[in-house]
Amino acid sequence: MIARAAAALLAATFAAPSLAAGDAARGAAAFRACLACHALEPDRNLTGPSLGGLWGRKAGTLASYRRYSDALKRSGALWNESTLDAWLRSPQTMAPGNTMQFAGIADERARADLIAYLRAVSEGKDVPRPKAPALPDLKKAPKDSVIASIRRCGDSYFVTNTKGETLPFWEFNLRFKTDTSATGPAPGRPVVVGQGMQGDRAQIVFADPGEISKFVREDCRE
Ligand code: HEC
Repeated sequence: MIARAAAALLAATFAAPSLAAGDAARGAAAFRACLACHALEPDRNLTGPSLGGLWGRKAGTLASYRRYSDALKRSGALWNESTLDAWLRSPQTMAPGNTMQFAGIADERARADLIAYLRAVSEGKDVPRPKAPALPDLKKAPKDSVIASIRRCGDSYFVTNTKGETLPFWEFNLRFKTDTSATGPAPGRPVVVGQGMQGDRAQIVFADPGEISKFVREDCRE
């Protein structure tokens, strides 16, 4: 009788929620600190790798993410409660020289909640999954944002959109980027993003890096 009561007490003690268990619902809110760089959809990589299916994965091994640092890969960590706790407390202490620009979370409770949340996501539990900020679909860009031609003369670029409007830019104020994702521009139809061609700076996004130099026409006669 006494033994049974003791066993029940012991079971109750172990079943009681401990600090280390964390609260996945609260962790979902804490995940906002990660959203700018991490998505949860499998293989949706942003600045950082997708954290979907993280639990039990070896650090630095998501095949679709090609930007891991040697520091993280060398850590040899297997992602679980204790390794994630060390990483989220201070990424630079755990894997010095890694490239995650994040100071860490000092609050133990907040770390435990976040870890419980990441585990719940990996295990397919029914927890809120904030969507990573959607990038605009550049294939649907308005005519005045689609670039028809770029002429270069000396330190100047003259950018003409498909409405026939041309604006000059100092070369240092024009950025050329690529977006090879599903929402990137159509081949041969680069798009100006941000504030469009307004202002003294602009960013032009191409479907492929090979297009960039082909698109720019050297011409000082016009
Ligand atoms: C400013 C961008 C940024 C923020 C914010 C950020 N991370 Fe990261 N994270 C990265 C990058 C970049 C890497 C890859 C680091 C490397 O290879 O050295 C990474 C790697 C990771 C990894 C290792 C993944 C793997 O596949 O091995 C985990 C786990 C992780 N981050 C969790 C988080 C969590 C949880 C948060 C929020 C508390 C967060 N990160 C916030 C950019 C970020």
